[in-house]
Amino acid sequence: MTLYVIGSINMDLSIQIDKMPQIGETRLGSHFLATPGGKGANQAVAVQKSGGKAVMVGCIGGEFGQDLREAFISAGVDMQNVTMIPDISSGLAIIIIEGNNNRILIDPGANGQVTKALIDQALEAALPGDILLTQLEIPLEMVCYALECAKKKRMTTFLNPAPALALPDSVFPNVDYLLPNQTEAAFYTGIYPIQEDSIRACAFHLLKKGVKNVLITLGESGSWLFGEKEVRMGIYPINVVDTTAAGDTFIGAFAAKLASGWLEEDAMRYAAKAASITLSRQGAQKAIPTEAEVTAVEGKE
Ligand code: RIB
Repeated sequence: MTLYVIGSINMDLSIQIDKMPQIGETRLGSHFLATPGGKGANQAVAVQKSGGKAVMVGCIGGEFGQDLREAFISAGVDMQNVTMIPDISSGLAIIIIEGNNNRILIDPGANGQVTKALIDQALEAALPGDILLTQLEIPLEMVCYALECAKKKRMTTFLNPAPALALPDSVFPNVDYLLPNQTEAAFYTGIYPIQEDSIRACAFHLLKKGVKNVLITLGESGSWLFGEKEVRMGIYPINVVDTTAAGDTFIGAFAAKLASGWLEEDAMRYAAKAASITLSRQGAQKAIPTEAEVTAVEGKE
């Protein structure tokens, strides 16, 4: 089964700081890192490193394009549907890491150039049962189009609604798995999911919109799936170094394992272990663990 990831490809420039600067203030940081990222690309790499077969669909630019291309090659992601647009920059993310939190600022650059023609070309070979995985860092019209095409082809669709932005009501019935974090879930429902009551209320609100399943990631409280099945999963505690791409790791790993026929609870457990390893390392794609590293994680969630 193939997983088509239609989404963003960014170069991440990250710096760690002790305290956010005020307006007009300059502060010193440390641990500068330039590393391939982007929610789409991170999820594709997580799929591939989790034993899945990822096809990346997106655009890179002249600036940083070669580095981003090499990252896909070294992870083994199929990039025949990644278009290079030489005269603009690749997507760029400025990441400021403060303790266990990060703040991300994005210039979409080439990510804004994804077209219907590119999506059509990529999905031409897709078969019923293949997976489409997308996020909101490419133009919304393209996300809606990709989900619509995938449903027509009887693919299983995953939407990670990040970063949160208003979606047309027509999009939700085309989503088999909606995967928001707490902030995103609150954006779409007006309910911040923190305790059982609010988590359930939030999930049912989203299910009523027409998505088949909702999987909310809850940070230190783990994750909770609602829909055809209900599954609650904890976390694997670890020393947190950088939260960047932990959610992407969870989503890509979960999708890869579902594609391999795993039960949702087993796929969530694997994804929780994988995300815990990403949290313990700095960077995005370079922090995502291989299957062998995940399998070596011991203990219970
Ligand atoms: O989810 C983490 C990612 O968000 C980063 O890699 C950054 O590029 C932004 O897309």
